[in-house]
Amino acid sequence: MLRKTGIVLAAILVVLSSLIVLRAGRETELPPAAPWDLVVSPPTGETAGEAAPYVGEENKPAAEIAVAGPHGQLVGAPYVTDVTANSALINWVFRGTAATGADEQGWRGLHSKVSGLRPGATYYYDVLRDGSGAGAGRFTTPPAGGSFTFMVYGDTRTREDVHRQVAGKAAERSPAFVVHTGDLVADGLNARLWPGFFVAGQDLFRKTVLFPIVGNHEKNSPLYLRLFPHPLTYYSFDWGDAHFTMMNSDVGTAAPTKEERERFWSEQLKWLEEDLRGASSARFRFVTLHHPPFTAIGKRQAGTKKLAADLAPIFQKHHVHAVFSGHDHNYQRHVVDGIQYIVTGGGGAPLYDLDSPIPGVTEKVAKVENFVLAKVNGAQCAMEAVALDGSTIESFVIHSKSPAKTASVAAAGK
Ligand SMILES: [Fe+2]
Ligand SMILES: [Fe+2]
Repeated sequence: MLRKTGIVLAAILVVLSSLIVLRAGRETELPPAAPWDLVVSPPTGETAGEAAPYVGEENKPAAEIAVAGPHGQLVGAPYVTDVTANSALINWVFRGTAATGADEQGWRGLHSKVSGLRPGATYYYDVLRDGSGAGAGRFTTPPAGGSFTFMVYGDTRTREDVHRQVAGKAAERSPAFVVHTGDLVADGLNARLWPGFFVAGQDLFRKTVLFPIVGNHEKNSPLYLRLFPHPLTYYSFDWGDAHFTMMNSDVGTAAPTKEERERFWSEQLKWLEEDLRGASSARFRFVTLHHPPFTAIGKRQAGTKKLAADLAPIFQKHHVHAVFSGHDHNYQRHVVDGIQYIVTGGGGAPLYDLDSPIPGVTEKVAKVENFVLAKVNGAQCAMEAVALDGSTIESFVIHSKSPAKTASVAAAGK
């Protein structure tokens, strides 16, 4: 009897050990060591592929993208940047200790580039792959032409609860991407504030693509470039037939000496001209900079004069259709030489009074939290300024008559 029991126990041990081997075998099949490498797998969840992502049928997930990474605490949702017709950068932030790979500030921003994508397709990803969905999101690549919707907002600093509400309301409108006009956080040098930005905006970020610029509150912080890794703080991108020029107008913090700051600005103006010249065949040209060249806030008007003098002639020369800014925590629209100057700085920061509309220039002002939704469809761009409660502040349409001409504007609902 004793001997029989021994045989049974031995058999159980053999089975158990073979299970352990099998499990270990499975684990060794997981993607090789480099912990932040991107893994693209077919939707069936079978062994990870290595070449182009699986491309599904219309209205089905075009690919499932899984990223091997730490199982530390993910901060908010992942966010996607730098999307082109065939590539994207998937980013996420995790909290942890040095032992789990976090930097000295207690968190770390990670980035994984995906390539081999196709235009106008929706991709799904999951940076945790833990079955919780916490690390999951989606994004859409730009279409070859045709129609798309984007949104603009900014100044999400200080009141994270309000930012969360604005982002949630904007997410309901399903923009393909988000242009952020700067002042993401109250103090870009304060490492503790950055995680809150991603937590507050997560409902929006996990469904879209984020294109930010710096505001004065970023303070030229190196932490910004750790989260949005670009060689420079100004850049441009294309989406469909539209071109987007993203500037850094915070010259005051750009360099330590006056001479360096002046050089920073003159080099950027040179780049701006080259960038817009290169976009002359685009159907729409949009420029974003944090500081508004025109404002209806009386005490700030003197400070905008140099900016307007430097930029307005360039925008006019290169037939820019609309200029987006923030910095003023409200909504404003001004029209100068047929160009729309839209201020949307109502993403959460405390609101500012609007006391001095510019005669003949200012079309609309509203002291309210807001975002702007833009629907590009062929030669038309329908814009809607949306208040936090979802109501329409105003809507208007920009027409691109030809790539070489300034748009005409049909305003409605002023
Ligand atoms: Fe601001
Ligand atoms: Fe600002």
